[in-house]
Amino acid sequence: MIQPLPINSIICGDSAKVLKELPPDSIDMMLWSPPYGDLRRYTKEFDANNFPLENILIRMKQVLKPGGVSVAVVGDFMMNKSKSGLPHRIPTFIIDKCLLNLHVTIIYEKNNFSYPRQNSYYETHEYIFVFSKGRPKTFFPIEDRETKNQKPWGKHSNRQWDGSLLPSERKTTTNTYSRRGTVWRYRVGGARMSSSYRRAYDQSAIFPEWLAEDQINSWSRPGEIVLDFFNGSGTTTSMAKKLGRQYIGIDISQEYCDMANDRLKTITPIIINPEDKNE
Ligand SMILES: C[S@@+](CC[C@H](N)C(=O)[O-])C[C@H]1O[C@@H](n2cnc3c(N)ncnc32)[C@H](O)[C@@H]1O
Repeated sequence: MIQPLPINSIICGDSAKVLKELPPDSIDMMLWSPPYGDLRRYTKEFDANNFPLENILIRMKQVLKPGGVSVAVVGDFMMNKSKSGLPHRIPTFIIDKCLLNLHVTIIYEKNNFSYPRQNSYYETHEYIFVFSKGRPKTFFPIEDRETKNQKPWGKHSNRQWDGSLLPSERKTTTNTYSRRGTVWRYRVGGARMSSSYRRAYDQSAIFPEWLAEDQINSWSRPGEIVLDFFNGSGTTTSMAKKLGRQYIGIDISQEYCDMANDRLKTITPIIINPEDKNE
């Protein structure tokens, strides 16, 4: 068992083994994206057919705190002339075998797409699955959806002693911005649209920094521990540091661990207390 918890560090190793060494019920939030089959090769040893994803997910459940949230960003890819179905198999496994709740599914819509096929539609989305160990202990909703008709609506009335209704002057108004829906759009790709850290593009499957920021802000508080067990170029760990969270990144590739460590050096924390948001 690794004691104390290796907070604010990047660990180079196989998550199937490293997660086993972390204390149970110790992590507040996780944000991760699995390796994509044989589409992208991460290390010389990487073998998509023998990839221990299920072992890793079982360990993931054990280290998550009760009330903690584990967010998976999953896209699909072609395998043996068929879509892999990975975005559908991961939630099934996590619900049935890890016994976590699927709290919400968000569609992450991208402005680009990787595999245009002549005989199909362009695939412009991935999935964000938010799993929780019991009821999530933290939720700070992002409220940036413009409310279209910001006019007073509905009439109020006061009930009289004889049961009749007397119209009142009081009017209900809507807020200018309200809670987001479940389709989130991000601009991705080159020209620093996914990351301000140039070298992150050397890792071919990064998710955008803004996506990581939105998830970390939604499901964790400053000071809490955020883990990515497929840390890659370190998008999760960098954004966790930026937002004043503690972080742990695990990746099997030494090259990506070095990249994630270098990237962390470029980050200055900006700590905003989410409880102050509405003051
Ligand atoms: C889709 S990428 C993650 C990219 C990351 N979200 C980012 O923004 O850079 C998946 C990562 O999983 C790592 N990986 C593959 N097998 C692993 C294992 N058994 N343990 C830990 N990391 C592994 C790969 O090296 C790769 O960096």
